[in-house]
Amino acid sequence: MEFNIGLLKGDGIGPEIVDSAVRVLEKIGEKYGHKFNFSSYLIGGCAIDATGKPLPEETVEGCLASDSVLLGAVGGPKWDGLGGDIRPEKALLGIRAAMELFTNLRPAKLYPALKGACPLRADLVEKGFDIMIVRELTGGIYFGERGYREGKYGTEAYDTECYSEMEIRRIAKVAFETAMKRSKKVISIDKANVLESSRLWRKVVHEVAADFPEVEIENMLVDNAAMQLVRNPGQFDVAVTSNMFGDILSDEASQLTGSIGMLPSASLGATKRGLYEPIHGSAPDIAGQNKANPIATILSAAMMLRYSFDLTEEADAIERAVDVVLDKGLRTADLVGNSAAAALSTTEMTDKILEQI
Ligand code: IPM
Ligand code: MG
Repeated sequence: MEFNIGLLKGDGIGPEIVDSAVRVLEKIGEKYGHKFNFSSYLIGGCAIDATGKPLPEETVEGCLASDSVLLGAVGGPKWDGLGGDIRPEKALLGIRAAMELFTNLRPAKLYPALKGACPLRADLVEKGFDIMIVRELTGGIYFGERGYREGKYGTEAYDTECYSEMEIRRIAKVAFETAMKRSKKVISIDKANVLESSRLWRKVVHEVAADFPEVEIENMLVDNAAMQLVRNPGQFDVAVTSNMFGDILSDEASQLTGSIGMLPSASLGATKRGLYEPIHGSAPDIAGQNKANPIATILSAAMMLRYSFDLTEEADAIERAVDVVLDKGLRTADLVGNSAAAALSTTEMTDKILEQI
């Protein structure tokens, strides 16, 4: 089969890790007889430098014309001083909205080989964990009304958390459908003891739950969820939550896997076209040094094959290759920690994964 993939390499380590994933996809293409055509577009800081805008029109058009999109990371200190509307991060929100990607799947699982890299006490993660965070991606406070106004104490700034029933219903449905393919348990995370938007969230989630009688549903307040994640991560399977809570909790969950450099993500909408990206950022401190862990991006490419192209066997092959490489004790710098293993570079780690495909 033939697929057109848009590449948004972005800033910092973005280009290095996307190049690694492209090499993996090319190997998959060779082995399984597929043709992947790649077209690169600018996004983030590099787009600001070249065009004055973090998300040029051409990028949006290119992504909408692709079968799917792979993204590296955006942002860096060079652009930190810019106003909210032209920051590189704005481009991420913009492309998610333009592609109508309201679902963000963020799987966090503990690889047996990385148990030692998990910062939790061994007895807490003895049985491992395999969590699928289902984060709402195009609503809530990241997209709500915002601005400045004069308040009681002078100038104040505000952002608004707002969710419609429609937005809650469609993400809840994804969570329950996902749970049906896993262990049939959903934890819905909100702050319904304080927020009106969370009370609506809870109500609608329970309405959707009625259509999935086989799935067990539990509500958890977000502060408790943050605590439960480090107390007993094994209790989570599918966790569905709002844009901001999902952003925060997925970073927390990633660290439990040993490194944020391990976590892929898939952003999906109503069609097969998705946007796939590691959950980590652009790591400007190590950019251009061939040190970054390419695994999160390589696993994001695997998710693309699975969710956008229905190439299950090919996706399995990539995930298995990562398993084998980790089992062999091969590590990039972020995973070495206090162990004696020597760190592999980005390209060396990619070579090792390619050898296993
Ligand atoms: C993420 C990032 C982004 C988000 C930022 C950079 C806009 O933190 O993908 O988790 O909040 O979604
Ligand atoms: Mg984040």
